Amino acid sequence: MTAPTSAGLLRHARQVTPVLADRLVAWQHQEGRHHLPWQKVRDPYRVWLSEIMLQQTQVTTVLGYFERFLKRFPDVQALAAAPLDDVLTLWSGLGYYSRARNLHRCAQDVVSLHGGQFPPSSEALQSLPGIGPSTSAAIAAFCFDERISIMDGNVKRVLSRVLGWDQDLSVKTHERALWEAAQAVLPNKAADMPSYTQGLMDLGATLCTQRKPACLTCPWSDICKARVQGAPERYPVKTRKLKRSERESWWLWLEWRKQVWLQQMPDKGVWAGLWTMPLLDSESAILDLLRDTSCAMELQPGIKHVLTHMDWRLRPCRVIVDDEAVAANWVTRLRCLSPSGRWVAHRDLEQVGLPAPLRKLLQY
Ligand code: ADE
Repeated sequence: MTAPTSAGLLRHARQVTPVLADRLVAWQHQEGRHHLPWQKVRDPYRVWLSEIMLQQTQVTTVLGYFERFLKRFPDVQALAAAPLDDVLTLWSGLGYYSRARNLHRCAQDVVSLHGGQFPPSSEALQSLPGIGPSTSAAIAAFCFDERISIMDGNVKRVLSRVLGWDQDLSVKTHERALWEAAQAVLPNKAADMPSYTQGLMDLGATLCTQRKPACLTCPWSDICKARVQGAPERYPVKTRKLKRSERESWWLWLEWRKQVWLQQMPDKGVWAGLWTMPLLDSESAILDLLRDTSCAMELQPGIKHVLTHMDWRLRPCRVIVDDEAVAANWVTRLRCLSPSGRWVAHRDLEQVGLPAPLRKLLQY
């Protein structure tokens, strides 16, 4: 069999229109999800907030964060006016903190550049911080009925299967061809866009999963090229995998009178802007710090923190200080490592933006 071309893909996509869209819309009405809190109203603020939270995080985790966020920041004006630290504190535990910083900047741009209203087109939405092509398409389709296709990981899988697009999606032109086909199979009626878009997400999350797709109950079963070929799990084809690295850090867990020493991470990089115990690159760096104190160090069990691009082994080293002069000496030396460093009382930890593994370690 010869490999399909982008022209062939587009031709095929036009042939299966409108059956493909009509069936998905009907399936979404019958079998899809309808009770997620961001679905109740076509409010761009809620839809935007949910889409940003859902980018790297499961629906079940997002639900609680979404409620707490809306309670504290009921509209885009409230979010824009809040200090960034408050936003990071509420985001604490969701991970990928650049999302929270962009969220805050985006709210400020919506207020200062767009009079507090999200612009009503996917193209204009993309000019805002943190809103890429797929997120802008989701907001525009859900809130403004725009005929534009989302293209997240789930949708790439679902559409590459039904259309039989077996070209390598890590090549930009092949991904672009799939997006053009996605545009060709959209419903004709703009009013169907919210159900269709939610249908793509629901199908990807429930039936058309990465392993063991449930083809028998799929509304596209008879027209799905990947199913007809017999191995839908082969799709999507993506050869270039993310390169992962490993890192090891020693975490100085310094305690003094029911307080822990924390410092703020730089604005860029992992945990940007969050508060952490001092991180050192080697055990000898911790031992150097300890040398002129009378303190003992207790190495705690290591923690493996998995990020998209790296496995991070964190080794907490607990040091308990019980002498005022020794505590003052620590403060002087740790402020040289990071001037932001300060003691934080355990009872105040809830008000500080901590990375999830630290929150778990300190167990409050
Ligand atoms: N993932 C991304 N957007 C979503 C949505 N609107 N509903 C469910 N899961 C999603």
